[in-house]
Amino acid sequence: MSPAKSEAPIGVFDSGLGGLTVAREIMRNLPKERIVYFGDTARVPYGNKSKTTVIRYSRQIVRFLKQQEIKAIVIACNTATSMAFDEVREEAEIPVIGVVEPGAVMAARTTVNKQVGVIATRATIQTKAYTKAIHAIDPEINVISQAGPLLVPLVEEGWLHDRITDEIIMRYLDDLLEHDIDTLILGCTHYPLLRSEIRKLVGDKVTLVNPAYETAKELERMLAESGLENEKAVEPDEPYPYRFFVSDEAERFTDFANSILPVDIKTARIIPIEEY
Ligand code: DGL
Repeated sequence: MSPAKSEAPIGVFDSGLGGLTVAREIMRNLPKERIVYFGDTARVPYGNKSKTTVIRYSRQIVRFLKQQEIKAIVIACNTATSMAFDEVREEAEIPVIGVVEPGAVMAARTTVNKQVGVIATRATIQTKAYTKAIHAIDPEINVISQAGPLLVPLVEEGWLHDRITDEIIMRYLDDLLEHDIDTLILGCTHYPLLRSEIRKLVGDKVTLVNPAYETAKELERMLAESGLENEKAVEPDEPYPYRFFVSDEAERFTDFANSILPVDIKTARIIPIEEY
């Protein structure tokens, strides 16, 4: 007998390493769910690519993930969510969640003075995806956006607690803070890893919204509503509850994953994603 649909894994994808911050929240908050993760490490970053390209890449990844018999897809990349959400949904034919909507919903719920800041990649900011999602909930909220392209390489370099990183964060946040924001969306997969630095710099009057966490909670709700929750706990000797695939640099990916995930991963398999 084939296993129940609810026992199938969740497909999670990102332009590279950053989406592991989303996988991490799924592991922490939905410990019974299995995960198949794809990181497009050969073609990262998506944050400075065109919409046409990001759509093409995302469709290829969805075709690969569907072969892994997944029950749902999480687009763990803010840029891919902003640029290719509808196309991913069309290609997937199974439930799809992106990171933008859950982050926007939480920000709209949190702000009191209706001044919300968003930091993200240039591409995400250009699409205005967060602004549109927030305005769909409350058009009165003033959304102030700022691209922060230098932060992705700094995080990947491991400069999480560094004077230079702090200075760059402040440079990006200056304008947002001048607008007196009370809520700040960390709208790029890498930024939650800078959370404690950002918190230190903005003080405690600004609430930080982590779309990675909000997405895991949204996934939990969606699975419950559609009767797709996995009831079977992960066994200690279960061979591969979490499987990782990349398009390049498997070792670097594995090292990064092991520095942030609550579990140890041994390998990531390289997939020729252009063939999908
Ligand atoms: N994963 C991307 C995002 O969340 C950041 C890295 C990239 O530019 O590809 O927007």
